[in-house]
Amino acid sequence: MKFPKVIRRGRTRPAPSTLLELTERELCRIVLDIHDGPVQDMYAALSQVDALQKKLVSADDRDRPSPEAVAQSLTQVGALIRNALWSIRNFIGAFAPPEFQKRDLVSVLEGLVIQHEELTGCRVELAVTPPIPDVAPPVKIVLYRILQEALSNAYRHAGTDRQYVHLYSRDDGVVLEVWDEGVGFDVERVLTQAPTDRRMRIGLRGMRERVVLVGGTFTIESRPGQGTHITVWVPGHAGHS
Ligand SMILES: Nc1ncnc2c1ncn2[C@@H]1O[C@H](COP(=O)(O)OP(=O)(O)OP(=O)(O)O)[C@@H](O)[C@H]1O
Ligand SMILES: [Mg+2]
Repeated sequence: MKFPKVIRRGRTRPAPSTLLELTERELCRIVLDIHDGPVQDMYAALSQVDALQKKLVSADDRDRPSPEAVAQSLTQVGALIRNALWSIRNFIGAFAPPEFQKRDLVSVLEGLVIQHEELTGCRVELAVTPPIPDVAPPVKIVLYRILQEALSNAYRHAGTDRQYVHLYSRDDGVVLEVWDEGVGFDVERVLTQAPTDRRMRIGLRGMRERVVLVGGTFTIESRPGQGTHITVWVPGHAGHS
């Protein structure tokens, strides 16, 4: 098929204003949304495929998985890929998943925890201490994304299949704590390392940036051998995007 020739005139035509008018802050959020959503799902799918492959070619017969176990792993991989596709479609349609508007914070976070358990086989102990104040939609998205990335990090890096989450209120806002009792790491050293092919190292910095955008606070405590503990505070009603 022949395409019409593009004639370049002196000045480029302005792009539709709705696309051009994305602020740097919104762009930053879109990049983080793609990182924390579909990219993490793809990582999880990849590590399941790697693990399965290792078991299938194992020299020791006892390590080889049964057909049922293979089928179960493939179901999880399929679900992760479907999830990634779903989120990408969502970004193309609108930049925020529609159910965020409809569901309250606790149900959105509970849904994420259940999904994480189903997709990774991890166990997440979720504690909610009521009352949890209302938060603005951008703040809800921030908490959702931070929990998503924190759980994904624990699954990928902590070497443990158990994570803990506590949601409660403090100082007219909401606190989200996520921790694990895994291998831990040297926070200062890791935050100054350059990205590699398999690790973009956007996650932790992104968490902090998201929290700053809505006027909250973020702390991470970790030490090799002593697990990792993330604490986020976000304002109740006054969150701004
Ligand atoms: N819960 C955890 N347990 C152990 N190590 C962790 C944990 N969370 C983060 N880390 C360490 O901190 C590093 C940086 O995490 P970060 O989320 O910023 O990047 P990443 O997960 O490597 O890549 P990505 O950009 O895909 O998130 C990780 O590579 C890992 O070494
Ligand atoms: Mg990460």
